[in-house]
Amino acid sequence: MRHEPNASPLSQDALKTLVGRAALAHVVPGQVLGVGTGSTVNKFIEALASVRETIPGAVSSSEASTQRLLALGIPVLQAHAVEGLSVYIDGADEIDGQGFMVKGGGAALTREKIVAAMAQRFVCIADESKQVQTLGAFPLPVEVIPMAAAPLVRRFAQMGGQAALRLIGGQPLVTDNGQHILDVRGLAIDDPLAFEDRVSQWPGVVTVGVFAHQKAHVCLLGTATGVKTLTF
Ligand code: 5RP
Repeated sequence: MRHEPNASPLSQDALKTLVGRAALAHVVPGQVLGVGTGSTVNKFIEALASVRETIPGAVSSSEASTQRLLALGIPVLQAHAVEGLSVYIDGADEIDGQGFMVKGGGAALTREKIVAAMAQRFVCIADESKQVQTLGAFPLPVEVIPMAAAPLVRRFAQMGGQAALRLIGGQPLVTDNGQHILDVRGLAIDDPLAFEDRVSQWPGVVTVGVFAHQKAHVCLLGTATGVKTLTF
């Protein structure tokens, strides 16, 4: 589903490993951190295992990340057990020049937004294929209440988007929260804050995958010449 070819001599997987390791520099010893979801975060979780004694644990954004953290001996804490987080580390499907992101390719966007909102800083880890001028080339994930899917498909059509239910094995994908995902193509999201505000209010929308209010503060971008740190 990527819209940019990987021009780097390093594979996309190698770039993910690079940024996953680089994110260790943002882990605050003695403090619980927030952990996102996806193949880039999986590289981070592998790296985090090497410093697991230095942190009390992590708040996880998905069942998948929880299983990985626990398998590596990293305690997982419930969101209600912590007051707040200093840092949240997660990937993105797209990130623009202001740190606004599209997320949810791994269907974990709702919990990702919740954990991101608990944190003072969002550190995005991504390979360079995720960098865009304008959000929207990647099909926008939107978590929806199942009975609202058809009306929401029509609403997106009115704004020029083609929304389709995400399927797995021919059946609608069911998220960790028991809901469905619409993937919306054909949108150019020029004003991510306004777009997030607008779509979040539509009845039946659980979470829209535009992360504008919970944008990245820092992005560790894996490039052909190494890890580039972007601050927003
Ligand atoms: C999951 C997400 C991921 O952060 C996003 O899809 C990027 O994933 P990957 O690191 O596998 O490219 O939002 O819901």
